[in-house]
Amino acid sequence: MVERKLIYQIYPTAVGSLRDITDKIPQIAEYVQPDYIWLNPIFASPWIDGGYDVSDYKKIDPRFGNMNDFRHLIATAKKYKIGILLDLVMNHTSSEHEWFKKSERHDPKYKDYYVWLDRPINWKSIFGGPAFSYDETRGKYYLHLYDKAQPDLNFNNPRVIREFKEIIDFWKQYGVAGFRVDSANTLAEDALKSGILPRITGFFNYFQTEETVDILEKVLARKDIFTLAEPIGGRILGKSRFRQLTHMAFDAAFNVGTIDIADTFFSDRYHMMPVNYKRWLKYLASWSTEPKFSMALESHDTPRAPSRFHADPRVLAMLQLLLPSNYPCIYNGQEIGTKNPKLSNNIDDYPGVQSRMMYRTLRKEGKTKRQAMTAVRLASRDNARQPIDWGEYILQSKDEESTLRIYQKLINLWRNDPVLVNGKLKVKKITKTGVFDFCRIFDGKTYKVHLDLSNKTVSYLENHEGQKLIRSR
Ligand code: NOJ
Repeated sequence: MVERKLIYQIYPTAVGSLRDITDKIPQIAEYVQPDYIWLNPIFASPWIDGGYDVSDYKKIDPRFGNMNDFRHLIATAKKYKIGILLDLVMNHTSSEHEWFKKSERHDPKYKDYYVWLDRPINWKSIFGGPAFSYDETRGKYYLHLYDKAQPDLNFNNPRVIREFKEIIDFWKQYGVAGFRVDSANTLAEDALKSGILPRITGFFNYFQTEETVDILEKVLARKDIFTLAEPIGGRILGKSRFRQLTHMAFDAAFNVGTIDIADTFFSDRYHMMPVNYKRWLKYLASWSTEPKFSMALESHDTPRAPSRFHADPRVLAMLQLLLPSNYPCIYNGQEIGTKNPKLSNNIDDYPGVQSRMMYRTLRKEGKTKRQAMTAVRLASRDNARQPIDWGEYILQSKDEESTLRIYQKLINLWRNDPVLVNGKLKVKKITKTGVFDFCRIFDGKTYKVHLDLSNKTVSYLENHEGQKLIRSR
């Protein structure tokens, strides 16, 4: 059965340690009222990919605190009826993980925990460069869909499946409510088993197969937890694959394509094409009615939405919460309309592996340093990973017209207004300048929504009696 749950995403470095996060829960509960807080990885990690390179899944990274702090966080969240979701990074570990160290040394138990080949094949990594790297210790090549410090796990090995079941049970014991599953549709490498060298060298090779779904079912089944998938693949994901994944293994899932599509035909954020509002809004509207679709306009992987879409954050809030949306996911800082910060012009100041990769790619394409840095500043994931301005939060809480208070009102309506809970979507108009008119219809009542991303006209939600329930100004 499809439920409706609101998720609030916290990227730990944007808020701080587990104690800092705990301190902010009352505020978050008051204005956003989430059912779940999804924490990006907080596990021990060398931090090559912002925590997505885990070196110990059962340990909190000391930069965020310890198990006591975690217990305290869970207990505080519970008081506010919020469940904590952890980030399960299943596709790969850090090369510093004990499993990899043992696998390198051909330890009998661990030798098949990763994908090893005698000779590399032509697959490319999502972070650029080859997807196979040579390992001196083992004298073989290992697969890494992402950075070479993130070796891919071998889920054909039942032991690896068992490890993840144990990791889930371990955290459940501490009271976690569920997990967001990273790179959820890339777990199986069937193409490798077939022995046929794939013609396409990109990440199509890893893409969701029957086998992936089977692995996920084995790991997640009957666990009594909330599960949210992050399948990769943007537009090529398609609705039938999305449904296969959510039907079999997940409560809800993202489609990162709903953010990427604004830029280019395919998931390529680096060139920062002008936003194609018409294509984006049409695509978003069509996904919004997917019952298990988790609508997000921002994440730790994207620039801030008001900067990306050149839009008033209040209008973006209306877009996210007035379209049908069973699992909206709000990214920390989004509720106060955080924009991209002024990032440095020097690539050496960027912590993120993706920013540096973007820079290298653009330079190789012949862009000047300046052109490459302009693109990095606009598109970098580091835009979304800066500390949140809590002073601004307090200021906005006192101003009825602020983005924060609009979020609060919208979330109340999202929860309680029968037309917005159940209403069918009828799209009336979508223009290339970002005007979007639609209705929500339920029980003989029609609500009208007028959104204008260019902000030339006032955006509003009007109920069946002609009353404006929300206005952008
Ligand atoms: C998707 C995560 O959202 C991203 O931040 C990370 O770099 C990759 N998966 C690899 O884990």
